[in-house]
Amino acid sequence: MIDIHSHILPEVDDGPKSWETCVAMCRTAAEDGITHMVAAPHANDRYHYDRPYLQGLVEHLQNLIGDTPKIILGCDFHLSYDNVQDALAHPKRYVIDDTRYLLVEFSNYSIPQQMTESFRKLWDNGMTVIVTHPERNPILREDPQRIAEWAQQGCVIQVTGSALTGFWGERSRRVALWLLEHQAVHVLATDAHDTQKRVPILSTARDAAAAICGEQIAASLVESNPRAILNNEPLPYFPSPRLA
Ligand SMILES: [Fe+2]
Repeated sequence: MIDIHSHILPEVDDGPKSWETCVAMCRTAAEDGITHMVAAPHANDRYHYDRPYLQGLVEHLQNLIGDTPKIILGCDFHLSYDNVQDALAHPKRYVIDDTRYLLVEFSNYSIPQQMTESFRKLWDNGMTVIVTHPERNPILREDPQRIAEWAQQGCVIQVTGSALTGFWGERSRRVALWLLEHQAVHVLATDAHDTQKRVPILSTARDAAAAICGEQIAASLVESNPRAILNNEPLPYFPSPRLA
């Protein structure tokens, strides 16, 4: 399995605080069958994103853990005006590795109507938006149809694996299920932050997804689709969502 969204670098955001925890998280992931992990530190008002510095941390972590899992640098990119301007000026600064794919998280407090325009601008500058954990966003949760429409427009939708098993509460679980049933989920990821609560385990979510949409689609969500992202290729499983 491939996890495209995790927080496994020390002291750079609200993720782990020590190298010991980072290493323990990677060991847990490897035991779960995760072969690749995208380290996606936040870039927002609170956390500054310094790509060369973070790349150095990735290399150090890789040295500490050996070959598996392979660590790749990305960013949990907060969709703010300033961030979008910076990404447009530096299209390779926030994407996953050297690919076109950009993990984008939304504010919990407001989602501007001109969102589609921001997506288009990023797209025109060579970036494909991966909408992260919409099932946990209090605004989007009320309007999952809007998420499905973004999928129809070409956005990749990433749901938190543990949302499917109820860790984020009943409303998030229901929206995650709704999206899955409407063919509007393309990737499951851990969004792991620690070794206790938000853990780097994906197999449970894969099994939960398999019970809903079958083994083959579940495998696409944790294997072939995330692999295509790392290879900078179009996603093999990218159906038209079932819009209401
Ligand atoms: Fe995250």
